[in-house]
Amino acid sequence: MGQLALESVVQSVNELPSLPQVALEVMRLTRDPDTTARELNDVICQDQAITANMLRLANSAYYGFPRLIGTVGEAVVLLGFQTVRSIVLTAALGDTLSKEVKAYSLEKGELWKHSMGVATAGRMIAKRAGYKYQDLAYTAGLLHDVGKIVLADYLEEYCTEVLEKVRTEEVCFSDAELEILGIDHAQTGGEVAKKWNFPAEIVEAITLHHNPDLAVQDPKLTSITHIADIMCTVIGVGIGVDGLLQQASAHAVEILGLDEMVLEEIISDLIDVFTEEENAN
Ligand SMILES: [Fe+2]
Ligand SMILES: [Fe+2]
Repeated sequence: MGQLALESVVQSVNELPSLPQVALEVMRLTRDPDTTARELNDVICQDQAITANMLRLANSAYYGFPRLIGTVGEAVVLLGFQTVRSIVLTAALGDTLSKEVKAYSLEKGELWKHSMGVATAGRMIAKRAGYKYQDLAYTAGLLHDVGKIVLADYLEEYCTEVLEKVRTEEVCFSDAELEILGIDHAQTGGEVAKKWNFPAEIVEAITLHHNPDLAVQDPKLTSITHIADIMCTVIGVGIGVDGLLQQASAHAVEILGLDEMVLEEIISDLIDVFTEEENAN
């Protein structure tokens, strides 16, 4: 299949729907320093589904806000523009990321949980590593495996072949994808992020989340996404078949200046978030 697949995969990415209008508008407004809380509130409230999802998320363990947030207006004032942008994006992508992704042995909701886990871990790592753009780390984590949704259709056909390769030859899932399809889910995810007009650093972090040492635009962001992914794998959050045979890049750990103790603390915080979230549902 090889290169032929690569072209048709890029074609399918182009056919993906764009992000919902409200999400695009929120991305734009939150980048503009002149935007007021009221303007942001008015835009979000136009979309009832996003509003409902947003409030549910704002009150979930993932954000860990101590007070109940009852309205969009409160969320904007209490959480700030950066966090609101993250939450609206998450709310807008909820349905897409909740799908069952059979070819990766991910049941319905599992990719969602994994994406939320990596987004949350990314934000935690960014904070501990003194990386300024915590919302970029969150967004890259949220989207890092979005390519799986696109590739799943192709893999369905080759599924047994890929799984067999992973099992018998102990190659990691991305290498098997590359060999059989000519593109892996990370590159595919990068194409999706490009199509959705995310900044180049996010595109890179998604594209290289399994090869962080190759990053040039923003090696820290890519390293954060890589380590966040592995952390969620270690604690077993939504890993499907891709969770096997992954190892953290020593270089990624090093450039973030994180020692083992900090990494363990982040993992334990992450476990707390998931336990709390599970108990709430
Ligand atoms: Fe991945
Ligand atoms: Fe992942």
